[in-house]
Amino acid sequence: MKLDFHSHILPGLDDGATDLANAVELASAMTEWGFERITCTPHINALYRNTPETIRPAFESLQEALYVKGVDVELKMSAEYRLVPETWPEVLDKKWIMPIEDKYILTELPISKPEEMGWVKPVEEFKRLKAMGLTPILPHPERYFYLSRQELMSFVEAGAVIQCNYGSLGGLYGPESQKIAEDLVREGLVTFFGTDMHNLRYVKVMGDWFAQGNPIAEF
Ligand SMILES: [Fe+2]
Repeated sequence: MKLDFHSHILPGLDDGATDLANAVELASAMTEWGFERITCTPHINALYRNTPETIRPAFESLQEALYVKGVDVELKMSAEYRLVPETWPEVLDKKWIMPIEDKYILTELPISKPEEMGWVKPVEEFKRLKAMGLTPILPHPERYFYLSRQELMSFVEAGAVIQCNYGSLGGLYGPESQKIAEDLVREGLVTFFGTDMHNLRYVKVMGDWFAQGNPIAEF
């Protein structure tokens, strides 16, 4: 099945879809490409303090708008949890984890400033999640330029699986991310691909990428 586990298409919650019309536009493009089920994963981090309670109304509004427009895609609700002291302990404490496909959780790191993780150690958190019966998905390691291959492998050993962005392969984040993503794919380290859909620029780059004959991965 053509699934996407990583998208910011819920209106007004983070740096993704700005409003409901924009959210419908992004979800419609993904449906046209062939995605059959989309898990919505708004950020939960220091800047975007989302909770299941803030996410649910936006989720339901998009679900209803897509139904009214006849866009035939299944929507699921989760989040992209950043491993930072501002929000991650609260997520655990208040049981805000919404598993993807009953067993995965999207756990991102800061994009460019590892010091934002403070005392939170990804390896320990990945082991904790495994002990809880969840498999952590590490999104877009090709965008963490501070991350060494050795460190990345320590995450995999702790039980995390790697998700690259389709957009990285299509050059959305520049040549360096593209090269790292290609290397990870070639080495067989990538379990999932995701859209990480945010806006119409993503639609353009990924649309071109799929139009070139690159397929959507089946999970
Ligand atoms: Fe994301």
